[in-house]
Amino acid sequence: MPRASLHDLFLEDLRDLYSAETQLLKALPRMAKAADARELRLAFEEHLEVTRGQVGRLERLFVGFGEKAKGKKSTVMDGLIERAREAIARDAHPAVRDAALIGAGQRVEHHEMAGYEAARTYARLLGYDDAADELQDSLDEEAEADVRLTELAQTAILIESEEPEAARENGPARKKRTAAKR
Ligand SMILES: [Fe+2]
Repeated sequence: MPRASLHDLFLEDLRDLYSAETQLLKALPRMAKAADARELRLAFEEHLEVTRGQVGRLERLFVGFGEKAKGKKSTVMDGLIERAREAIARDAHPAVRDAALIGAGQRVEHHEMAGYEAARTYARLLGYDDAADELQDSLDEEAEADVRLTELAQTAILIESEEPEAARENGPARKKRTAAKR
């Protein structure tokens, strides 16, 4: 069997990304439905649209390289989606469940960002500049989604939660206040 080339590795990564994105297409509607905060629901719904575009982008790349999109199921994405399922099923204050959903969503985004970054770098090395540009577009979209989730975690979600009060009472902030009183 011939040794795998960088081109083979590139295609393997594209297939892994394709599997990850198509798995996410099924998970995102469930995550949106489970979100309590309207902004979070919207963020998941809008990322579903973005994900559809990313799947189309990958499909066009496969056509361009004369390859089939189908490949091995992404086991990493499987695990990350399982984490989202656990967040959905979590028995907690709705805002805490939202926080868990955000955490699960960000793990997904970071995994995808790593995948797009690697594939984009291989494309550049191989001289596939158009493909590299397309992959960079998807990478930028994932990074945007990640920033949006971070902002939501810090604003809308926690403002609605009763938990931060409790966290302040028990957490480091209280220790600081106590220390200041002395
Ligand atoms: Fe994506």
